[in-house]
Amino acid sequence: MRSKYFKGLAGLALGGMAFFAYQSFAVNTSVTAADMMTVSAEEAHETREGAMKAIGGHLKALGAVAKGEMAPDAGTVVHAESLAAMSHTVKLLFAQELISDKSRAKPEIWSDWAGFSKAADDLSMATAAVVEAAKGGDPAAIGAALGDVGKACGGCHKPYRGPEK
Ligand code: HEC
Repeated sequence: MRSKYFKGLAGLALGGMAFFAYQSFAVNTSVTAADMMTVSAEEAHETREGAMKAIGGHLKALGAVAKGEMAPDAGTVVHAESLAAMSHTVKLLFAQELISDKSRAKPEIWSDWAGFSKAADDLSMATAAVVEAAKGGDPAAIGAALGDVGKACGGCHKPYRGPEK
């Protein structure tokens, strides 16, 4: 009787953990009430800055392979996958209209959210191609895929990022 009860509890706990793990891996790029937590404009800017720099770091590592400065290895795929994963966070970073003194985010991001979302989706698609190229291990193919990623960065920065402050 007792052990049955405990087994039931353990099952519930395991189920809960599995659900939690699933939740923490699934990146929901739509904006929900949960994203609307109170952050200051400065915090929002710093979070965006950190994410964009992380994206830049993975790009640099992949660029070295594309240029033949480094041989492709298992790390190349990890950088490509990390780049793709980070690119899925771009929309979330701009969920709230927050522009600090230092922020280069333009109000057009929110007045034209559909266009901004498309620019973010273009980056996600371009980075997915980098993952495929990285798995293939051909530096030229990685370089070509990175070229499209560069275009996707510019495709958003041009309309939605203001001049340096
Ligand atoms: C969908 C839009 C979008 C895409 C795609 C995008 N960015 Fe950005 N990025 C922005 C905006 C907007 C800012 C300014 C944010 C701010 O200042 O609050 C920014 C800022 C930056 C910054 C400056 C960070 C800082 O403040 O010092 C870097 C670096 C950067 N992006 C790199 C990249 C790279 C590299 C890519 C492509 C792999 C990329 N971004 C793709 C919108 C985008």
